[in-house]
Amino acid sequence: MQVMSKMVLVFGVLSLVSLGAFDVGELAKRGDKGFKPVVVKDWSAPDEKTIPNTMFGDYVRYGKALIQETYKYIGPEVADKKMRYAGNNLACNNCHSEAGTKKYSAGFMGTFANFPQYRNREDTIGTIENRINGCMQRSMNGKPLPESGKEMKAMVAYMYWLGQGVPIGAKVEGSSLPKVNRKMIMSRAADPIAGEKVYKENCASCHGDNGQGVKREGKANGYEFPPLWGQDTYNTGAGMFRVIKAADWIIANMPLGASNDARILTDAQAYDVAAYINNYDKPHPIKANKDKDFPDTVVKAADSDIGPYSDDKNRHQHKFGPYQGIIIPAKK
Ligand code: HEC
Ligand code: HEC
Repeated sequence: MQVMSKMVLVFGVLSLVSLGAFDVGELAKRGDKGFKPVVVKDWSAPDEKTIPNTMFGDYVRYGKALIQETYKYIGPEVADKKMRYAGNNLACNNCHSEAGTKKYSAGFMGTFANFPQYRNREDTIGTIENRINGCMQRSMNGKPLPESGKEMKAMVAYMYWLGQGVPIGAKVEGSSLPKVNRKMIMSRAADPIAGEKVYKENCASCHGDNGQGVKREGKANGYEFPPLWGQDTYNTGAGMFRVIKAADWIIANMPLGASNDARILTDAQAYDVAAYINNYDKPHPIKANKDKDFPDTVVKAADSDIGPYSDDKNRHQHKFGPYQGIIIPAKK
């Protein structure tokens, strides 16, 4: 009897350990808002000519400018030192293409309608301002914008204007990233050596052999082609630093000219090149306290390369895969 209960205990603990991996179903449950979201198909951006000549319209236009030419207003090279909120010379637009209107490019069409929301990175309910500041401190390697300052209000006003008519909580088709083949990522690790070949053939012509891109002349003018590694790009806390997330973005957006409907790379190439640009020998600014991200390891992003984890896989496997035993797929 005693042996039996010990076995039950052991099996119980074992199943708890495997349940500790990234649980897609659990994340979906925590994201549940208690109502069925409307699905918006065929979204198209509103006509900019309809932005009114009012104070509201001025904020919307300023918000759009901040997103497209971030470096010019809040970048590290602007003349007014107090305005240097971003720590690199990227623009939001470098990842949220076409001012957040390009589909499958982490667009902003559904953003205003979908906050507040559960955020696994903080394990709390986050606002749209929190989310913008998340990218400010990670993708832009900078400081948070004051929440009631003009810049934050302007970006939120632009997202509000862009999302006009989108019902609250709606799923807008093309507002999230596509997913590279999940069977592939479960069964094999991303291969930075294969990724180097992809990089040389498809990326280096713009981003450079050294990944430093091409900077425009003059101060606070940003990049013609943004850097992918080095000190003037996203930091190690950014989504783009994570291999699966980067692969999902790259497949529908790079090389320049690619879209989700007109992909240029295969899933395998996107996965491998994502590993290449984020490999250990490609330095990025360090995000402090990364071990505090995803405080609940059950919903911790599978491709986060800093522990703690509640599965038994090491950092290296979390960074590059294979993700079998790390991701628990949602039950159908
Ligand atoms: C290096 C790339 C990169 C840059 C630069 C960047 N972001 Fe992001 N951003 C991302 C990624 C990746 C996501 C997550 C997309 C996903 O998981 O679907 C994201 C998500 C977001 C979201 C959440 C959108 C939603 O609807 O859930 C907001 C808001 C956002 N970013 C705002 C900004 C703003 C504002 C800037 C500039 C100040 C910026 N980002 C710069 C990569 C970037
Ligand atoms: C023809 C030029 C060109 C080629 C080739 C190209 N890119 Fe880009 N890339 C760009 C431009 C321009 C942007 C910024 C997009 C924007 O602002 O709309 C960008 C943005 C990016 C970003 C997000 C911003 C950043 O700095 O991290 C990543 C990641 C990226 N490219 C990866 C790649 C990869 C991987 C390849 C090869 C598979 C590739 N690119 C090929 C021009 C190019």
